[in-house]
Amino acid sequence: MRTARSASELNLPTNAPIGFVPTMGAFHEGHLSLMRRAKAECGFCAVSLFVNPLQFGPNEDYAKYPRNEQRDSELAESAGCDALYMPEASELVGKPLVTIKVADLSGRYEGVSRPGHFDGVATIVCKLFNIVRPSVAYFGLKDLQQCAVVDLMVRDLNLPVALRFCETVREADGLAMSSRNAYLGAAARAKAPMLHGSLNDARSALIQGSALGETLETSRRALEEMGFEVDYIDLVDRWTFHRLDVPGPSAALIAAARIEGTRLIDNAFFEEAGL
Ligand code: PAF
Repeated sequence: MRTARSASELNLPTNAPIGFVPTMGAFHEGHLSLMRRAKAECGFCAVSLFVNPLQFGPNEDYAKYPRNEQRDSELAESAGCDALYMPEASELVGKPLVTIKVADLSGRYEGVSRPGHFDGVATIVCKLFNIVRPSVAYFGLKDLQQCAVVDLMVRDLNLPVALRFCETVREADGLAMSSRNAYLGAAARAKAPMLHGSLNDARSALIQGSALGETLETSRRALEEMGFEVDYIDLVDRWTFHRLDVPGPSAALIAAARIEGTRLIDNAFFEEAGL
């Protein structure tokens, strides 16, 4: 595996497919499974590791976001990464900056709680696509709204890259893997899988015909009783993030909640339910 601090050192293949996994590091099995898939499907796997300051709000965790390049390099290599791009902030976010804004979608749900977040994501992902020029890029579905934002950006700007959105990798107790799980203390970690549990319960209730409003309210109350501060829990179209009144094949239940100060997000789909 080669590592590069600047785009000019990257030296990527120009006439063979590249599978690309953009990341902010602190690798877990979710990231590694994307790398393995990129390698298996494309033959060459490029990974970027960049904690993107543009996607953090002023009161968010940019400074304390977990960073361990040595550990991450070893894990990436073990998962089949061929090239690891770890740019300095000055290479990607120097001024002047053209910002990509994915209108409407970026202002919903996560965009309300984290103003400017998706502009930061879209801008950096677009720059990374232009630097790496991947044939295929891989994203995890835990960050469902991010997947929708990147999908819309790629289609609207005619970017020449195929996208693969890959199933969320979970711990044995159902908690969606996330670099931010490292912030969870023991008590919060024990409760954290309830977010996934409550979405699954709501999903089953809706499939059995329960009313949407009542179902969402029951889930919200159950989470609050467990000590979660619920930011949102709702049923949306997974590509537009417009609210839905009934579940269907493109519906997703989405939730964001804090447990003892750590913010978790998760989602559940209806594709398999045959609705
Ligand atoms: O999902 C992430 O880790 C980040 O949002 C991404 C896609 C690498 C952009 O900084």
